[in-house]
Amino acid sequence: MKYAFITGANRGIGLEVTRQLLQRGVYVYLGCRDLEKGEAAAAKLKEDGLTQVEPVEVDVSDAGSIRKAAETIAGKQVQLDILINNAGIAGDYPQSALTMDVAEMKRVYDTNLFGTVNMVQAFYPLLKDAPVPVIVNVTSGLGSLTLHHDPDWNHYQVKLAAYGPSKTALNAYHTVLAYELRDTPFRVNVVDPGYTATEFNNFSGPNDVSEGAAPIVEYALLDADGPTGRFVSYDNSPETGISPW
Ligand SMILES: NC(=O)c1ccc[n+]([C@@H]2O[C@H](COP(=O)([O-])OP(=O)(O)OC[C@H]3O[C@@H](n4cnc5c(N)ncnc54)[C@H](OP(=O)(O)O)[C@@H]3O)[C@@H](O)[C@H]2O)c1
Repeated sequence: MKYAFITGANRGIGLEVTRQLLQRGVYVYLGCRDLEKGEAAAAKLKEDGLTQVEPVEVDVSDAGSIRKAAETIAGKQVQLDILINNAGIAGDYPQSALTMDVAEMKRVYDTNLFGTVNMVQAFYPLLKDAPVPVIVNVTSGLGSLTLHHDPDWNHYQVKLAAYGPSKTALNAYHTVLAYELRDTPFRVNVVDPGYTATEFNNFSGPNDVSEGAAPIVEYALLDADGPTGRFVSYDNSPETGISPW
């Protein structure tokens, strides 16, 4: 059996990724920053017959909380197969480059970038001996600098001074991570769920959570021959799923 840990899994896309992984026979540690919400989400999954799920408290903006979560998993077993860094925030609006509050920008980076960095570093020792260790860092199509310079892109006008750059920075971190792990069995990809109806955007996205979760699950379940180092976005590149950086 494969074991997965996913952050921000008590609702939205993370909860649906958890559901789909459970349906595929994976044991899932459901990361949540509020344990009560995580327990409620896990109880609902269990009611639906998906029982191999355990909530684990983790606030990714808090390095101590991340260390504690990693210790909890280390105490249960020696090896984790899949890490999905899904927790993310948009930050307060408006997000103009001319007026964006830097403290708010840092808050977004703390979750979307530094949270992922701390998660990868704390969970690497748990993953590294798995036959095919997999890391999926959940990014956004809005992290593509190439497309932000293309006036014909359908999201060209969605310029957010905190959120977009936080995901671009995540992609840049991922590039270094994938390079360092290139000669190992690790499969490491950044995956965009696409514009998906969740609380994140007041349920405005055209995709439902099952569509948003699908590419994350696809890349979480890669085998040894699977790709690594990609920026995956079926929203940006419907045919290949490989987004420009
Ligand atoms: N929805 C979209 O259209 C879309 C598009 C592209 C990319 N994404 C990315 O997809 C991911 C999931 O988004 P979503 O739409 O599912 O959002 P969501 O419904 O708002 O869910 C976000 C999840 O992240 C958790 N979270 C936030 N800050 C956290 C922290 N500091 N520590 C731990 N957990 C934290 C939330 O926990 P609480 O319940 O405790 O707040 C919640 O479980 C994000 O990385 C987002 O950037 C979403």
